[in-house]
Amino acid sequence: MSASVETPTKTLLVALGVSLVCSVVVAAAAVGLRPRQAENELRFQQRNILAAAGLYAPGQDVAEQFEQIEVRIVDLATGEYIEDLDPSDYDAQAALRNPAQSDALDKSVDIANIKRRERYAKVYLLRDGDEIETIILPIRGYGLWSTMYGFIALEADGNTVSGLSFYEHGETPGLGDKIEDPRWLGLWPGKKVYGADGEPQLEVIRGRAAADDPHSIDGMAGATLTGRGVTNMLAFWLGGQGYGPYLRGLEQTGSDS
Ligand SMILES: Cc1cc2nc3c(=O)[nH]c(=O)nc-3n(C[C@H](O)[C@H](O)[C@H](O)COP(=O)(O)O)c2cc1C
Repeated sequence: MSASVETPTKTLLVALGVSLVCSVVVAAAAVGLRPRQAENELRFQQRNILAAAGLYAPGQDVAEQFEQIEVRIVDLATGEYIEDLDPSDYDAQAALRNPAQSDALDKSVDIANIKRRERYAKVYLLRDGDEIETIILPIRGYGLWSTMYGFIALEADGNTVSGLSFYEHGETPGLGDKIEDPRWLGLWPGKKVYGADGEPQLEVIRGRAAADDPHSIDGMAGATLTGRGVTNMLAFWLGGQGYGPYLRGLEQTGSDS
């Protein structure tokens, strides 16, 4: 009886064979799962958009709930809708890597510390008949440790806050992550964005806001710097570099058509 002889070459060949098979399996799984990942990412975004407007009903189909939302693309500089870009194809994150679709921000205007700003942004509208009821806007800005991504929902006046949601950040659990705390987020509806001078005046202050102050929000204990990041991102996105021109246009015409 001849026992099979183990040689270094044989061992190497077996190891190579196994790793080849494994890499093919992993690559196939990664490619095969990509559409599902994209679908999950889309549903996640839709859920956060609905949540900002206080419309998200847990347990119900997100895609169905999102059918009530109209998605448009806005030219941030002019505040006008862009009709020749399909919102379902437009990726604002990808636009940030494309110099033809985004611009570097000068330090003097980059109060949210985001470095680049896309020229076109998606906006999400909830209508009651023809009239806009709620406007939901993507926002982002740097906190203490990280860029925080979220949505702010405004009433049709473009000034009264309906709600706020955050879906991605790297702030500290138990401190800066209070931006996701439903109790803190519950302080926002009814607050007013703009002061008498027409500039954004919403501010997360240190400590408790006076009940009759329409522009101030309670600070988050131990997370003053994250709160300052939220203030800065709102000043940027609701000001002249962000959705200011779009919101002013809505206010002037009383509608978007
Ligand atoms: C480990 C560690 C993590 C922290 N994480 C945060 C944070 O996520 N957000 C924040 O604003 N402050 C955070 N801080 C606290 C800040 O350094 C700073 O003290 C605080 O923002 C000041 O807020 P206060 O005046 O309310 O105490 C952290 C501090 C430590 C030591």
